[in-house]
Amino acid sequence: MKLGLLALLLLAMGCSEPGVTDISADELLARTTGDALILDVRSAEEFASGHVPGAVNIPHTELGARLDELGNDRAKPVVVYCERGRRAGTAADVLLEGGFGNVLHLAGDMSQWRSEGRPTVAPPPVVDVAVLRDQASAIFGALPDVARSDSNAVSPEKVRLGRMLYFERCLSKNQETSCNSCHPLADFGQDGEPTSPGHRGQRGARNSPTVYNAALHVAQFWDGRAPDVEAQAKGPILNPVEMAMPNEDAVLELLRSIPGYVTEFAAAFPADADPISYNNLALAIGAFERRLLTPGRFDAFVSGQDDSLDAAELAGLQTFIETGCVSCHSGPAIGGGMFQKLGLVKPYDTDDQGRFEITGLESDRGVFKVPSLRNVAETAPYFHDGSIASLDQAVSLMAEHQLGRVLTPEQNASIRRFLSALTGDVDGSYVADPTLPESGPTTPAPDPT
Ligand code: HEC
Ligand code: HEC
Repeated sequence: MKLGLLALLLLAMGCSEPGVTDISADELLARTTGDALILDVRSAEEFASGHVPGAVNIPHTELGARLDELGNDRAKPVVVYCERGRRAGTAADVLLEGGFGNVLHLAGDMSQWRSEGRPTVAPPPVVDVAVLRDQASAIFGALPDVARSDSNAVSPEKVRLGRMLYFERCLSKNQETSCNSCHPLADFGQDGEPTSPGHRGQRGARNSPTVYNAALHVAQFWDGRAPDVEAQAKGPILNPVEMAMPNEDAVLELLRSIPGYVTEFAAAFPADADPISYNNLALAIGAFERRLLTPGRFDAFVSGQDDSLDAAELAGLQTFIETGCVSCHSGPAIGGGMFQKLGLVKPYDTDDQGRFEITGLESDRGVFKVPSLRNVAETAPYFHDGSIASLDQAVSLMAEHQLGRVLTPEQNASIRRFLSALTGDVDGSYVADPTLPESGPTTPAPDPT
């Protein structure tokens, strides 16, 4: 299951109620960022006898009716706190249903709060914003407005055609699958499944990566077997478990039978005597993908707007840099720039040989392309096989296997605050479903076999 837009942090460690983390008061302070709301869901009497300073009290039975009292900022982190052994789960469910996406669900011993005078939340770590921006700018650089290519100039006509082809289900054998089926542009360019169903529901062994920002990568696919998005686009249409077209000629025959495509290819490739070719199809899709970039608040920060990231996100960026994640996840896509062994420091168990299958080099066994971390909070599940469901787990495994480090829960949470700030803006008009040309009299029928 994909958590979608919810950054739901359910940390289960040694507590009887599933999804509730049992922590001490000091840990609560360390985990709670300056802008979080602490919601105490016990009865008014229990609350009156001692509580976390600054906490808001709404008994869990009344929460549904009184949600408005929590304000309108649904992105605000809410820490649900209750006495150990009590039900905080129902309260967290009510919050999630009410649209609060950032819920931390904790239980603890309230007796620690019977003495007053403690700070409500820990002060944010000290961050020198100017130094941090210089570091970020050097490590990541600026996101361009188009991922330029010397061999495929991006023109409006190519982009228009490429967008149509991206959404064109007729490019699959049963005319049911398009690029957008596995990489839905309205959902950050991926389908939320560990592996994606293609022709007749068949699945390959790997997770569909997002197509957003992919054109910036050093190469395409987890193993880098296609040099660029143009070369990549030729693969899925003919792949028997994806779009399953029998051969290039069948694709060209189909496109030539649709009068609208005859016109669109001619407009996109005006210098070509025979504009409908498999190569031109790939150039058009590639041109469309070269503008699938998602600038966001992080880019505003790098370009000089200090207040575009909040204190917790800045601290998270600092943690991300200091932990060493940037030795691999660097450049404008925050990754995508190199190949690295999965399990560089501590072996990682996977059957997939990665880049070894392409190069045959022993040194490439278990080596994968370092993925981009832009929009990563929206693109679960993770890793080449989609086997890692949560970002929390992905971050811990990375620290352990790539850097030989064990992160504290606070460091992990801090890094995730930064990673969530990498969610960028999708240009809705650029990725809106295009009107596709009508079939012609000789257009082949779908083949469901
Ligand atoms: C049936 C699902 C499916 C369909 C349909 C599909 N893809 Fe993919 N796509 C995948 C999977 C799975 C991968 C990763 C495969 C691998 O790395 O070996 C992938 C990889 C990619 C990548 C590489 C991204 C990166 O970060 O390396 C791009 C770009 C891409 N697809 C674009 C497209 C385009 C364009 C189309 C239509 C022509 C398309 N895909 C059709 C499943 C699909
Ligand atoms: C030595 C290089 C290296 C370092 C250091 C590294 N990573 Fe990675 N990262 C990778 C590779 C390679 C993958 C792809 C894993 C796979 O193929 O399954 C990856 C995958 C990820 C993913 C999953 C992305 C997705 O879309 O599936 C996340 C999240 C991530 N890294 C975060 C981090 C964080 C946070 C750190 C620092 C604690 C870090 N990485 C350090 C190389 C590295």
